[in-house]
Amino acid sequence: MAWSMSLSLLAFSLRLTSACPQLHKRQGVNSTVPEENRFWAYEASYDWGRLNPEWELCQTGTQQSPIPLRLDQGLSRFHTLSFDYPNTSTGDVHNWGYGPATTFLGENGASVTELPSARFDENNVDETVYLASWHIHAPADHTVQGDRSKAELHLVHADAQGKERAVLAIRIDPGNSDSRFFRQLPPFIGFNSTGESRPNTEMNMNLALDEINRFSDFWSYKGSLTSPPCTEGLRWFVARNIMFVSDEQMQAILKVSTFSARAEQEVWRHDINSD
Ligand SMILES: *[C@@H]1O[C@H](CO)[C@@H](O)[C@H](O)[C@H]1NC(C)=O
Ligand SMILES: *[C@@H]1O[C@H](CO)[C@@H](O)[C@H](O)[C@H]1NC(C)=O
Ligand SMILES: *[C@@H]1O[C@H](CO)[C@@H](O)[C@H](O)[C@H]1NC(C)=O
Ligand SMILES: [Zn+2]
Repeated sequence: MAWSMSLSLLAFSLRLTSACPQLHKRQGVNSTVPEENRFWAYEASYDWGRLNPEWELCQTGTQQSPIPLRLDQGLSRFHTLSFDYPNTSTGDVHNWGYGPATTFLGENGASVTELPSARFDENNVDETVYLASWHIHAPADHTVQGDRSKAELHLVHADAQGKERAVLAIRIDPGNSDSRFFRQLPPFIGFNSTGESRPNTEMNMNLALDEINRFSDFWSYKGSLTSPPCTEGLRWFVARNIMFVSDEQMQAILKVSTFSARAEQEVWRHDINSD
């Protein structure tokens, strides 16, 4: 589907939930179907660029995501990042085909600019982006010092036109206590990829931010969608702090998750931690 299609249209028609899946359902490569209709699979992410000419960036792009992160890259010093999230957001909780997810855009008729907002600057230009959805990958997309967390939460932000613009990534691992963010959500049991969902679920997205000290420290880089068509022009923020959940919460996430980590990409023109 076309990248230029507005997020709101997609949200209504397909319940698109993320910057990563352009296709919503889990799909495998089937070489007997016409080239332009071939499907992709995370297990075969090395060859996405060859499956469809429109996915060439997956093979040739200079700012592909995810990338390996290291402490000696430092942390972002150039970008401000601030949040204006209300304490109650209403979303449709479901499984995006690979794990737990929530869509805010379109829920109760919400338009993009009514959604929780965040601000950052790129090349000294202030931008405001809006939280359209979140979803979870398992295992994590981004490694730090070669270490891969068990899962990664992506807060997908769109610009005022509804185009995906920034993804805020939070790594998730088991720790000693419950995560308040996850405790407020309905149980994920039954939230498999068959389409069950809980519309109009209220949640406090500030709880997710609070658990990683509101992105006090982060890596930032110029990246892409992590699935075909691998479109570039997205700003990534990866929190240094890990969100810790209880063993039971971790298991509940993993139980409804399917492998969804794209192979890490070579660092190239990502301008890590600078603009
Ligand atoms: C591949 O696609 C063809 C044509 O749509 C279909 O008949 C076939 O069953 C598919 N094969 C697999 C393994 O999904
Ligand atoms: C959200 O709740 C916290 C206390 O839990 C409060 O400090 C904060 O001002 C509230 N934010 C908004 C936007 O209402
Ligand atoms: C998926 O969820 C539906 C509805 O709760 C349930 O009937 C079905 O058995 C589940 N499928 C799997 C594979 O867990
Ligand atoms: Zn994602």
